[in-house]
Amino acid sequence: MTDLLILNGPNLNLLGNREPQHYGSASLDSINTALESRAREKGYSLAARQSNSESELVELVHQASVESVRFIIINPAAYTHTSVALRDALAAVDIPFIEVHLSNIYAREPFRTHSYFSDIAAGVISGLGAHGYILALDAAIHRLDTTSG
Ligand code: DQA
Repeated sequence: MTDLLILNGPNLNLLGNREPQHYGSASLDSINTALESRAREKGYSLAARQSNSESELVELVHQASVESVRFIIINPAAYTHTSVALRDALAAVDIPFIEVHLSNIYAREPFRTHSYFSDIAAGVISGLGAHGYILALDAAIHRLDTTSG
């Protein structure tokens, strides 16, 4: 059983090289390694997945339900602004999730200010770089520590 699932959407496999002015210099591997060790310290198991494919992300959300994942931290990347399918998947499985963005999506192009996820998320972190994932993990762990089941 995996307690926490980290899901990253398209192009986030390029972190570290991709537009560092927006997304910083940390690689996705280094972010995931930090998340895994922090979760382990707190006694939780964590899995991290990235996909460039909308359908694969939808499948990973469905699979999370089958595997009784208790909390999801997701950066839907460009699908934030386009994907009703991924939103519907998260709503369908009813697993609480936090939406994370490395950049401040409200301080960029107007099309980035709309998210299909924020209104059904437990919380949203945007603009704090890679540290945003750590903050989301701490919030998720706090939620798991203080809720039963
Ligand atoms: C992003 C912001 C999105 O607008 C963009 O398409 C991304 C990354 C972020 O982490 O800041 O790919 O989700």
